[in-house]
Amino acid sequence: MSADAITVIVGLDIGTTGVKAIAVGRDGEIVARAEHGYPLSTPRPGWSEQNPEDWWGATRAAIADLGSLEIASIGLSGQMHGLVALDEAGQVIRPAILWNDQRTAAECAEIEERIGLERLISLTGNRALTGFTAPKLLWLRRHEPDAYARIARIMLPKDYIRLRLTGEWATDVADASGTLLLDVARRRWSTDVLDGLDLDPAILPPLLESPEVSGMTIGCGIVPRGIPVAAGAGDCAAAALGVGIDRPGPLSIVMGTSGVVFAALPAFASDPQARVHSFCHAVPGQWHAMGVMLSAAGSLQWLRDRLAPDTPFGDLVAEAEAWGPGADGLLFAPYLAGERTPHADPSARAAFTGLELRHDRGALVRAVLEGVAFGLRDSLELVRALGGPCDRARVSGGGARGLWLRIVASALGLPIELTAVEEGSAFGAALLGGVAGGFFDDVPDAVRRCVHVRETVEPDPAWQAVYENTYARFRALYPALDAVKENAR
Ligand code: XUL
Repeated sequence: MSADAITVIVGLDIGTTGVKAIAVGRDGEIVARAEHGYPLSTPRPGWSEQNPEDWWGATRAAIADLGSLEIASIGLSGQMHGLVALDEAGQVIRPAILWNDQRTAAECAEIEERIGLERLISLTGNRALTGFTAPKLLWLRRHEPDAYARIARIMLPKDYIRLRLTGEWATDVADASGTLLLDVARRRWSTDVLDGLDLDPAILPPLLESPEVSGMTIGCGIVPRGIPVAAGAGDCAAAALGVGIDRPGPLSIVMGTSGVVFAALPAFASDPQARVHSFCHAVPGQWHAMGVMLSAAGSLQWLRDRLAPDTPFGDLVAEAEAWGPGADGLLFAPYLAGERTPHADPSARAAFTGLELRHDRGALVRAVLEGVAFGLRDSLELVRALGGPCDRARVSGGGARGLWLRIVASALGLPIELTAVEEGSAFGAALLGGVAGGFFDDVPDAVRRCVHVRETVEPDPAWQAVYENTYARFRALYPALDAVKENAR
């Protein structure tokens, strides 16, 4: 390290496509950023796996790329729900099963049967969804009993990076909320659920609040010894902090591969049918409600990869601008990977409807942008019912740009605020790291000092009027598609 190295907080986000590392100064300014990717393996239809060693390799490379900096503290965030299982010797037993893996429909049914749906919702605030961690454990017990028998401890993706950085095994209550094994209202592991599913509590990591120090780095060549690492949070809660959602008020919307509508709640509350998730927030003593759609920017990525792999996103979106709101009746149901909120249906499938001869590629793109916006609206309606003002939204993620933002603002009927720093979860992780490292007094202090709104995108009244009708047609689409699917069986 050079003598004049700058002192920074490092935020790490262990994402689905790669690790993002950012170095943040005391006032929230971005000093350096780096990203390193890794592959996603889909060994069977609906399966989605990654090798934790790849996360670690990419993390080391990303930190190295930040350059010569004096790291004061580190914060972690990452893709939620993934099952990482280690044996007694600390070896990874099999590839991690990720949040977007859909293999566990039978285990979800089994969990809801064993515990009882209503009781499960009252114990955890949530229902069993294929992406969550508990069904993955049951799947392993049934389909890979030898691997299951070797499990000594499990953890979530970012917690594996913590283990490698600090030697400590721990998680935070925000990320743990997505396991379906947490008593979310009381912020502790649920003995009732563990007993009901016959799972050993000893395999679960100790729980911390997100800004707490989880351990000190042990020195790994890239990072020196003795740097505090915050417990951190799952990527949705971290992204919400990254845009300043540290209390009930504006929503956080993430337009990444998946789409997230996130509202901090004044107190713990859950939807009676658990159509949205109720999780602990990364702010001690706070909760949040969250709807997740599985293919948001992922839908646009799919369209480009299949129809126009050589065309930049910006050109495709420009083609979509040529069409008015509603794309002359063309509608897209964004269920390319099944859907979570509001349908909880891993076998849901996507569709274009209303195609006619004059529709072109731009119309298809416009319909995708709008279909994703309507999927976000489905989540908005449900989180709004749980309380919180929800009168504005702050947006992050790769899809949060230009035309798409105007469409989302108009389909949701909400002004959308853009913050000065657009690093999403990695920035939220850095703010948590800053609290753990003593840069900030607490999370609200970090938000007050580092998050600033730079621009507001207002809904377009003319588009809004069209979208009220189009959204009603969109709502009718899923039941119709479901009926077609039933007939095909
Ligand atoms: C949240 C979820 C996804 C992943 C993606 O419940 O499953 O947003 O965290 O990174």
